[in-house]
Amino acid sequence: MDNQALSIVDKRTQSAYEIPIHDGTIRAMDLRQIKTGPDDFGLMTYDPAFMNTASCKSAITFIDGDKGILRYRGYPIEQLAEKCSFLEVAYLVLFGELPNEAQLKEWVGQVTHHTMLHETTKKFLEGFRYDAHPMGMLISTVAALSTVYPDARHVLDPESRKLQILRLVGKMPTIAAYTYRHSLGLPYVYPDNDLSYTENFMNMLWKMTEPKYQANPILARALDILFILHADHEQNCSANVMRSTGSSQADPFVATAAAAAALSGPLHGGANEEVLKMLDEIGSKDKVPAYIDQVKAGHMKLMGFGHRIYKNYDPRARIIKWAADRVFEVTGRNRRLDIALELERIALEDEYFIKRKLYPNVDFYSGIIYQAMGFKPEIFTVLFAIPRTAGWLAQWQEMLEDPEQKIARPRQVYTGHAVREFVPLEKRSVPAAPTAA
Ligand code: CMC
Repeated sequence: MDNQALSIVDKRTQSAYEIPIHDGTIRAMDLRQIKTGPDDFGLMTYDPAFMNTASCKSAITFIDGDKGILRYRGYPIEQLAEKCSFLEVAYLVLFGELPNEAQLKEWVGQVTHHTMLHETTKKFLEGFRYDAHPMGMLISTVAALSTVYPDARHVLDPESRKLQILRLVGKMPTIAAYTYRHSLGLPYVYPDNDLSYTENFMNMLWKMTEPKYQANPILARALDILFILHADHEQNCSANVMRSTGSSQADPFVATAAAAAALSGPLHGGANEEVLKMLDEIGSKDKVPAYIDQVKAGHMKLMGFGHRIYKNYDPRARIIKWAADRVFEVTGRNRRLDIALELERIALEDEYFIKRKLYPNVDFYSGIIYQAMGFKPEIFTVLFAIPRTAGWLAQWQEMLEDPEQKIARPRQVYTGHAVREFVPLEKRSVPAAPTAA
């Protein structure tokens, strides 16, 4: 349409420009023509933390943050969580369509046959200190898989990519379970191919001396739902790292390790662990108002609250709350849930949170369920990384197949010194000591 354009007048030169608008965006490169003279580099946009910049076109995940909507490949998250298994959703996220029966059988069979780790990788894991954080172990071990599978470097070969996807989706739960067993000093449990993806994960975590591990079906289903909810979340911090690392054509093992490293931070996937610490610090329901006052005074953040995109209730948090009730029927009610519900109640009525549109996010309730199921807080982010691997790989694959994508390389606004005369060592004066603020 002709009127899909932005008219710009550069007041520096009085020149006028027509910048086309497509999909509600202008192309940043179209601004480069706006110059004050032939030597001018051209206009750039300045957008720290990508607050208003689309870095790609994507057909994987849709979020409407104002309405609290999340869809994978067009399907509402609520329907997928209710009706699908995690591997079915992983297939959808990765390949664009829900699998039919034959496709699902083949996919599940292939993933299942890639769950084993090379024995040298197991030995690698044994080398970590007894108290190593599971997330650090996971990140390092996923990166180390790059040495086991040098063929993964053929990132432009679709067949090779498919194989690495199977390896990563298959092996993530195995690595995750090994990191957990290591921290408890327990022997490793090999994958059991008779079991579903989630049941097998539970088997590798919790099997002791019994000949065959029997997962509680309610807990296994709850974990599967949690995996579905965490499968992808469009251009979040770790997905952006996955794309950025993958854009240099680094192999998917090191790129996934980089994405997992981004996930580990407390502002991203590490938040669920922080929520548990916060609930323990608060201790009881009656201390909630005082804690909220401290948050409002700027002393700390309410962990598990707020989101860059959601300015409404995170739809995943609503489903997790529902799943929590099923889990507590098996495990018994957790006192932390009462503190969390009280925090949510007070925060949602408080002007500070209303004004800033701060609602519970996915991490607010997930840790409480995980802990009720028997997980230690240190492994919560690892539980996030297992399903998110499907999302990272979908983002990676989409990036590699997009003819518009190139090596990611942002611009900067240089604020340092202009050119300076070099000062030889003997002539450099001692800089003044910084004064205390
Ligand atoms: N508690 C108290 N105040 C908050 C919080 C919070 N959790 N989150 C944001 N604010 C305030 C913030 O101080 C700012 O106030 P002001 O305008 O007075 O300066 C305002 O709300 C806007 O916040 P922001 O930091 O500009 O928002 P952002 O989009 O940059 O940050 C966030 C998003 C998720 C990093 C942030 O909300 C946060 O740190 N939340 C706590 C950590 C958390 O739960 N992270 C998990 C995110 S969801 C899952 C995932 O991504 O892995």
